[in-house]
Amino acid sequence: MQKLFVDLKKDVDDSYEIHIGRGFISEKIDELNQKSKFFVIDSNVYNLYPFFQNLQNVYVFEASEKSKTIESVEKILVFLKNNGCLRDSILLAVGGGIVGDVAGFAASIYMRGIDYYQIPTTLLSMVDSSVGGKTGVNLYETKNLIGTFYQPKAVFIDMDFLNTLSDEEYKNGLAEVIKYALMFDEKFYSLLDENSKEIEDRQEILESVVYRCCEIKAKVVKEDEKEHGLRMFLNFGHTFGHAIEIDSNHTIKHGFAVATGMYLETLFGHYIKKVNDETALKVKNILNKYSFELKYSFLNEESFLRAIASDKKARQSGISVALTPKVGSGIILKGVGIDLIKEFFVSLRS
Ligand code: GLY
Repeated sequence: MQKLFVDLKKDVDDSYEIHIGRGFISEKIDELNQKSKFFVIDSNVYNLYPFFQNLQNVYVFEASEKSKTIESVEKILVFLKNNGCLRDSILLAVGGGIVGDVAGFAASIYMRGIDYYQIPTTLLSMVDSSVGGKTGVNLYETKNLIGTFYQPKAVFIDMDFLNTLSDEEYKNGLAEVIKYALMFDEKFYSLLDENSKEIEDRQEILESVVYRCCEIKAKVVKEDEKEHGLRMFLNFGHTFGHAIEIDSNHTIKHGFAVATGMYLETLFGHYIKKVNDETALKVKNILNKYSFELKYSFLNEESFLRAIASDKKARQSGISVALTPKVGSGIILKGVGIDLIKEFFVSLRS
C-alpha cells in the first residue's frame, strides 16, 4: 500500500493521509473500531459488495446529481440523530463524488462537525473529490452553491472498486485525470498520451496514475486549501462544463462535461490570444485519444450563458476561467465579462 500526506498544519492541524492500494478496505474499516461508526453508502456499491450489507448504521444513498440536495443532507442528519450518532462517532462516506460531497457536508454540520473518512469507489472521486475537503450540495440550478471546506480524517482508495465500475463512470473520471496533466504536469501528459490503451483497459499502470493525481491534489490543497489561487487551476473545464451539465439537464455527466469544457475553454483562450495553436492542438489530441466528445450544441443558449454567469466561481467583477497556456501550467483569467463569452460562442458558429 502507498501513502500520501495532505499537509495542512496551519492554525490547527487538519493534516491527513491518503492510502492507495488493493483489497484493503474491509480490514481498514475494521481497524477503525475505537468509535461508533456510521456509513453513507452508494446504493450500487451497497448492492454489489456483501461486506457492506453486514455493517450496522448504514444509510444507503441513491446518488445522482438530482439527489445532491439539502433535502438529502437533512435525511442523513435525521438518520444520524435517530441512530444515536454522537460527537465522537465517525462517518464513513463510501461511493462516488456525490456521496462524498453530501455525506461530508452532513458530517461538517452535524453537532457542529464530526470526524469523517472518504472511501471513494469511482475513478473521479479517487482522483479528485475525495481529497481536499470540499463538501456540499446544489441549490436548484446552481452546482455546489452550499457547502463547506471540511477535511476528512483520512482517504482510503481501494483500487479494487474500479473492477465493478461501469465504462461510462470510468471514463467520467478520466477527464479529471487529463485535467491534472494539462494544468500541472507535462510529463504526466506524455504518460497519458503514450499509455492510453493500458489506462483505458484499467491495467496495472492505473494505480500510479491515481497516485500521481492525488499527489498533485495534495500539493495544491496544501498550498491553497480555500481556493484563493492555485486551487482555482482545478476548475479548468468546469466553468463551461458546469453550464453543459445544467443545460443538458444532467444527461451529460460531470467528467464528460468537463472534457468538453476543457476544450471549449481552450478555444476561448485561443480566441482571446492566451493559448497558442500548439497547446490548443495538444488539448484536442489528448481528449480525442480518450474519445471524448468535443462539440456541444446548446439546448438553450440563454440558459447556458446564464449558468456560466451564475456559476459559484463568479464574482461581482466577472467570471474566472482557468486556462492552460502551455501544457503542464495554468493561469486564471479573472473578471471575464459574459459579453466576451457570448462573442466567443458567436465566433465559433461563424
Ligand atoms: N474539485 C476541485 C477541487 O477540489 O478544488
